[in-house]
Amino acid sequence: MKIIILGSGDVARTLGTAFRKLGHDVAISSRDANKDEAQQWAKQAGGQVLSFSQIPADADFYLNCTAGTASLAALEMVSANTLKGKILIDVANPLDFSNGFPPSLSVCNTNSLGEQIQAALPDTRVVKALNTVSNPVMVNPATVPGLHHLPIAGNDAEAKAQVSELLQAFGWSREQILDLGGIEQARGTEGYLMLWVRMFGKFQTPLFNLQWQVAKEN
Ligand SMILES: NC(=O)c1ccc[n+]([C@@H]2O[C@H](COP(=O)([O-])OP(=O)(O)OC[C@H]3O[C@@H](n4cnc5c(N)ncnc54)[C@H](OP(=O)(O)O)[C@@H]3O)[C@@H](O)[C@H]2O)c1
Repeated sequence: MKIIILGSGDVARTLGTAFRKLGHDVAISSRDANKDEAQQWAKQAGGQVLSFSQIPADADFYLNCTAGTASLAALEMVSANTLKGKILIDVANPLDFSNGFPPSLSVCNTNSLGEQIQAALPDTRVVKALNTVSNPVMVNPATVPGLHHLPIAGNDAEAKAQVSELLQAFGWSREQILDLGGIEQARGTEGYLMLWVRMFGKFQTPLFNLQWQVAKEN
């Protein structure tokens, strides 16, 4: 499959490498296709680097792995119609570090980045996924022992089913992937980051995840 990742940071490169290991044709992307880390990744992983404006319309999956506060700006650099009808997995969190750590959310409560992206690209099938775990866990859920969960959200049931299958190749089981419903549920999965950053402070490692236990009926 052909997979194009918007972004060139840790998340883009980790996902890109994992998709390459699964045999997919992968490109990461940046404002500057000559960016050093991105070019080094391409050499090591055997992938490609594109500028946002060079992203073609023929990929099977697109992933948004840009800084959340810049995601709409980055998506605007992609040529019009490129993402029409396409599945865009939105991995970004709208973390605002302008006042240092811990960050706040630049959009929250009554809206989310996932919804903003879906509103900006109404013909794109946006699926919010993977944003609740750190990048090593994204591509190898067994990094965290036991049963733990990955909430996803989006308006297109078929797109979510395809994303779920794609993630199963990383080792996520059907039982672990929890479909919360429409893209507005991204308010919850992005909002969780306010707790995530504090648990990171507590554990001093990003290698953790949530497990939800539901009471058995009496
Ligand atoms: N780190 C994790 O493990 C983790 C886990 C879950 C979710 N996330 C989310 O995943 C996303 C990527 O995280 P990251 O740590 O890999 O990278 P990041 O540093 O948050 O973002 C890097 C990417 O954002 C782009 N970007 C930054 N400012 C921009 C601007 N003004 N206009 C256009 N593009 C801009 C950069 O473009 P250039 O290539 O041009 O520099 C780069 O590709 C974030 O939204 C983060 O919250 C991260």
